[in-house]
Amino acid sequence: MKSQFLDLAALRYSCRSYENRAIAPEVVELLLEAVRLAPSAVNYQPYRFYVVSSQEGLQAMRSCYPRAWFKNFPLCIVACGIHSQGWHRADGKDHTDIDVAIAVEHLVLAAADQGLGSCWVCNFQVEKLTQYLQLEEGVEPVAMIPLGYPDEAKVNDVLKRKPVNEWVQYR
Ligand SMILES: Cc1cc2nc3c(=O)[nH]c(=O)nc-3n(C[C@H](O)[C@H](O)[C@H](O)COP(=O)(O)O)c2cc1C
Repeated sequence: MKSQFLDLAALRYSCRSYENRAIAPEVVELLLEAVRLAPSAVNYQPYRFYVVSSQEGLQAMRSCYPRAWFKNFPLCIVACGIHSQGWHRADGKDHTDIDVAIAVEHLVLAAADQGLGSCWVCNFQVEKLTQYLQLEEGVEPVAMIPLGYPDEAKVNDVLKRKPVNEWVQYR
């Protein structure tokens, strides 16, 4: 069965090689609109997204995640969760990270739909990033998302996934 959604989901992959080409402001706006449309627990939307495109900012982003591939992208978005604004279930479970994750996935899928590469990055230096963005207490950086047009020569091997029967259970 044909599914535009599955086609889009298959199009997204962790891009680790970017062309140094600018992203038009209206495309950036579209990505932010995709974030805005994301659902969140009780519709609290407990997050803040930093859009980093200045040379100084991008340099700072690179220093927070010093890896050889983490370069060339013209834009980096940092998704932060605001725990005091998130929904906490009666047993105390904080849903902020879940809300941020849904919003980020909207972002990367919308990016793929626009022909952009992206990559979830969570293994960054938290203190350094917190300091650079001057995040106040309770605002936690959850993910850095570099965005840019993929360097086509280095597209990754994608969609190595467990078969459904390894993780699905029917009752
Ligand atoms: C929550 C999360 C955190 C991740 N953190 C990193 C990271 O710090 N560095 C990195 O290179 N990739 C990171 N990734 C990318 C994963 O390695 C990648 O999604 C996975 O291997 C599947 O490959 P694909 O995205 O190309 O389909 C992260 C992905 C997720 C969802």
